[in-house]
Amino acid sequence: MDEKGIDFIKNRIAPLVRPNILALKPYASARDEFQLGGDQIADHLFLDANENSLGAPIPGNYHRYPDPHQLALKQLLAIQRGVQADQIFLGNGSDEAIDLLIRAFCIPDKDYIVVLPPTYGMYGVQAAIQGAGILKIPLLPDFTPDVEAILERTDARHKLLFLCSPNNPSGNCFPREKVCALLEGFRGIVVVDEAYQDFSGEASYCDLIEKYPNLVVLQTFSKAWGLAGLRLGMAFSNPMVVQILDKIKYPYNVNSATLELVQAAMGQASVVRAQVDRLIAARVELASALQALPCVTHVYPSAANFLLVQVRNADAIYAYLCAQGIVVRNRSKELLCENCLRITVGDAAAHEKLITALKLYETTA
Ligand SMILES: Cc1ncc(COP(=O)(O)O)c(C=O)c1O
Repeated sequence: MDEKGIDFIKNRIAPLVRPNILALKPYASARDEFQLGGDQIADHLFLDANENSLGAPIPGNYHRYPDPHQLALKQLLAIQRGVQADQIFLGNGSDEAIDLLIRAFCIPDKDYIVVLPPTYGMYGVQAAIQGAGILKIPLLPDFTPDVEAILERTDARHKLLFLCSPNNPSGNCFPREKVCALLEGFRGIVVVDEAYQDFSGEASYCDLIEKYPNLVVLQTFSKAWGLAGLRLGMAFSNPMVVQILDKIKYPYNVNSATLELVQAAMGQASVVRAQVDRLIAARVELASALQALPCVTHVYPSAANFLLVQVRNADAIYAYLCAQGIVVRNRSKELLCENCLRITVGDAAAHEKLITALKLYETTA
């Protein structure tokens, strides 16, 4: 990037960052002070990080701290996602990126995040932990953002706007022109959470991070990639935002097992694509099976790996399903989600069990 580009980013981003975070000198870990590439490591004697020099009790190099910069994995991701390695932040799930973004940009008791309910609950929880205000601007009845209201009701105190697309729990993608209007008009950072993007068939917003310095795109290995247990999330943005998140993360926030296993999984992209295709087909089948049930009043269209399903009595059906050993998510207390359950798409056996139980509910209710 040329100097003009760097100045453009600095002028846009620096005034949004908390001054104490801008000024912060981060902790320099042992692996920060001395860095070596892969094969050189074997030639050196490491007596710098107070690790157990005799090794781990299990096979692997786990007695060593992991690379705090996660360079090898970032280089792989950069190729796969068509971005630069310095445009990637890696965290302990995308939840870590949400937490760090709020901590980096929101001064407690002064700044706000903007959320569009019904949406993913962690944005609000992390803001409450930070002591940031939460401005809620409900989605329109078609579950798309009310762009006019967002731009009218926000000012310089509103540092972060969270757009979840496909949205959890409604399952729909936001129209691209609305997201772009918000990127143009919102003064703070626009976070597009793409946790479910792989199931949508729509393009990622990653290709806009060069154009919009205020854009952060979140993705995760927890959904389509089937690696929720490893906890790896990504934030894609310009290098300044990435450096700020890196500055305030725990030094070794992504562990060695996760780094190794995710790199191995990335070699299996075709397996993941095939699974995503199967889940999309299963989503269609589950939606039509549910629609045929009298206790179901509406199945919302979904671009994710779950369905938002309106039923006659969500609380009763939720409790009944739990008693049958089937756990779904009761979203009926959320705005615009009256009597709604959120149901993850499963395999054929899971769907059969669910539909059989719901049919039985109808005969006994
Ligand atoms: C919209 C959305 N964003 C982020 C997350 C968190 O994902 P991760 O497992 O990467 O922390 C979830 C998890 O359910 C989610 O639904």
